[in-house]
This record gives sequence, C-alpha cells and structure tokens, in this order.
Amino acid sequence: MILYFSATGNTEFIATELAKKLDDECLNLLSRIKKSDFSEISSEKPFIVCAPVYICEMPRFLSKYLKKVKLTGNRRVYFIANSAGYSGITGYLAKKLFRRKKMEFMGYSELIMPRNYYIGHYPVQSGEEIRKRILNSYNKLDDIAATVRNEGRLKARYVFLFEKVITLPFNPIWAKYKMPSKDFFANEKCVGCGKCERVCPLNNISITDKKPLWGNSCTHCMACIGNCPTDAIEYGEITKVKGKYSFADHRDVLKDKRFSQNSANPPKHDYRRRKNG
Ligand SMILES: Cc1cc2nc3c(=O)[nH]c(=O)nc-3n(C[C@H](O)[C@H](O)[C@H](O)COP(=O)(O)O)c2cc1C
Ligand code: SF4
Ligand code: SF4
Repeated sequence: MILYFSATGNTEFIATELAKKLDDECLNLLSRIKKSDFSEISSEKPFIVCAPVYICEMPRFLSKYLKKVKLTGNRRVYFIANSAGYSGITGYLAKKLFRRKKMEFMGYSELIMPRNYYIGHYPVQSGEEIRKRILNSYNKLDDIAATVRNEGRLKARYVFLFEKVITLPFNPIWAKYKMPSKDFFANEKCVGCGKCERVCPLNNISITDKKPLWGNSCTHCMACIGNCPTDAIEYGEITKVKGKYSFADHRDVLKDKRFSQNSANPPKHDYRRRKNG
C-alpha cells in the first residue's frame, strides 16, 4: 500500500503513478492527519511512503503521524522523497523512524520535482524546467516499481555527518520562526468555498463570514494557496510577482503518457492555471 501526503500535487502524482505501475492501493493521509486518526492501516503488500521534503526532512506533521499510526500486515517499508533539488537528511530520518517501528526498511529514493515554494528568495522555475523535472521523475518510476516488484532494496546517495550536524539543530528554529501565516490573505476572487480550510494539514484555516482566516500554526506547505479554485489566495506581494505552483497546471506535460485524463485514480485536487510556467 502506498501512503502519501501532498500539498501541491507533486507527491500525489508520484504516489498515484507508482500505484498504477504496481497495481497497488494508494492512501492520501491528509484527512487522517487532520483528524489525528491513528487507527490501524493494514497492507498485504509492502508499504511505500511518499513524501515531499520540507527543510531537508519530511514534513514534521507527517513524521509525527507516521510515528504514531499502527501499520500492520507486511513489515517491509520503502520510502520515496521528492524535493526541488536537495533532500538533505530526509531518507536517513525516515530509516530511523521506520526501524523504531520495528519495520524492515527497504531503502529510499529521491526524486527531483518542480519547486512549489516561492516564498523567500527562491527563483521561479521556467515552464521548460518544470516539464523536464516531471518527465525525469516519471521515467525513474519504472525502475523504482521494478525494484519493489522484485523485493529489492532502493539505493539513495550517502548522507554525510555534516548534513546531520547542520540540519538537526537548525530545523526546529526555522519551523518556529520562519513560517508565519500573517501574510496570507484571500482577495475579492474568494467565493467562500472552504477548500483552503479542507486541505490545510494543520487545521490552521477557519472560514468566517465566507472568508478564510489564518491562525498561527502554519508550516508553509502551500496547500491553501495551490488548491484555491479561484486563485484568490496571495502571500503578501510575493505571489503576485512570482506566481504560484500546482502540479495540475503542468499535467499536460504527460498527455502522451498513461497518466492524467485517462487515469483510473486521478488526483483529487481541482487546480487552476497559475502565473508561472
Ligand atoms: C515548506 C517547504 C520547504 C521545502 N524545503 C525544501 C528543501 O529543503 N529542499 C528542497 O529541495 N525542496 C524543498 N521544498 C520543495 C518541495 O519539497 C517540492 O516542491 C515538492 O515536490 C512538493 O511536493 P507536493 O507538491 O507534493 O507538496 C520545500 C517546500 C516547502 C513547501
Ligand atoms: S479556497 Fe479560495 S475561494 Fe475557497 S474559501 Fe479558500 S480562498 Fe476562498
Ligand atoms: S495555512 Fe499554512 S499549513 Fe495550512 S495549508 Fe496554508 S500554508 Fe499549509
């Protein structure tokens, strides 16, 4: 069984494609994370956990969830991280987490997908770069699926000690101080549909008088901004200038592949065109 969290669609694409290649089930963990539902998840096939990288590790709310949830049945687990270029110690921490759960860690892979995080000084990627990254990752999924099918081990790069030394003390500070939500707002295009509230993994958004209000517990995942059906959400002036990312705006990259419109298990997000790409 494939378990995943995805804020802006990249991880969902990887998880659903892998599920098709392996004829396996796919479970989006969003609603379980939102409800703190740690009830048992059982699988006869090995578990495959797919996650985006947030500051060199998997999202902290996801690792907290995975630590607590009861995974039963098959004791093997694979891990697939995807980032905008540097996964840091994500795989190393995943290995530790699953070993603590007394599962057999079958290795991990790192895929490079388009950057979904435009806040800060990160440059906007060109449509061509986004296309290249999606296609490269898509092509790598065949090898990953073959390894899993053959019960082999996935191999990723070596994680150096200095990466752990730099990341481990730095991350909690970044998470505490560098992810404020005060700059999010919904403009006049907001129709009060509540989708932003529904996709926020931290339940940080509430709809009052048909408008979203952001609380103080944000992880900058970009799910609210990337999933608004009317493109009403901005982050200060930054997103007005740089645009926003969502995978669905680039799905036509794969129009000649099996993915997308003909998918038996299509992504559930309802995205609209953004400014980039
Ligand atoms: C809060 C946040 C932190 C991120 N940190 C990293 C990072 O450390 N390294 C990196 O290469 N990409 C980083 N990214 C980019 C995402 O990992 C990448 O775009 C991923 O494909 C997004 O997946 P999703 O569309 O399934 O949410 C970050 C994105 C967010 C939102
Ligand atoms: S998803 Fe967009 S349109 Fe819907 S309530 Fe949120 S901001 Fe408004
Ligand atoms: S409020 Fe923060 S945590 Fe919630 S969806 Fe938006 S960016 Fe993600």
